[in-house]
Amino acid sequence: MYGMVNKAVEELVCLHHGEEVWEKIKERARVDVDVFISNEAYSDDITYQLVGAASEILGQPTDEILIAFGEHWVLHTARKGYGEMMRAGGRTLPEFLGNLPNFHSRVAMIFPKLQPPRFECRDITSQSLSLHYYSHRPGLASFVIGLMQGLGKMFQTSMTVRLRIPKGDVSDHDVFDVTWEMPSAT
Ligand code: HEM
Repeated sequence: MYGMVNKAVEELVCLHHGEEVWEKIKERARVDVDVFISNEAYSDDITYQLVGAASEILGQPTDEILIAFGEHWVLHTARKGYGEMMRAGGRTLPEFLGNLPNFHSRVAMIFPKLQPPRFECRDITSQSLSLHYYSHRPGLASFVIGLMQGLGKMFQTSMTVRLRIPKGDVSDHDVFDVTWEMPSAT
């Protein structure tokens, strides 16, 4: 994954636990990179090792770390670094979710080696949809949950997200139920 992902993990850890803890995590992960370059592509193994080591050192389950990382990605990394792109994604939560399937095609213009996830929205109503998430990468469902929660906060919209069908024997991708309550117009 592009360096910006590892950089964002670093930022999240340093924000809550400080640089010393981050250095310990890198050591435990056996990742010998001083500074991640945002627009350079790194092996996915590095990201998985960092998240795994963070889980061990912080004593927090991987899923919890991925959820926190998803929220941080939307509320800090994406909003601060790519504000224009996030604004172009939609003015409300349902609008943004409806545009999600096309979102990374714009990202890919800046990051040509991007291997993005694929999203599909189905069963769309005024207050819910099912989000189908396809990726060749394993174990990132909790990251998607965090991303959704971050979007709910960004749009100040009360929402819930639940993994209904996990990727596995029954399905080749994850399916989430997303519901929301639009703030009243008054
Ligand atoms: C401007 C904002 C965004 C940028 C710049 C961005 C960029 C990226 C990058 C660089 C990766 C790593 C993949 C790679 O390097 O090959 C990635 C992965 C991912 N992105 Fe985004 N992204 C943005 C917003 C979002 C949003 C809003 C969502 C969903 C709500 C999302 C969902 C994901 C997921 C789930 C992955 C994990 C990769 C996978 O599933 O295979 N991203 N994105």
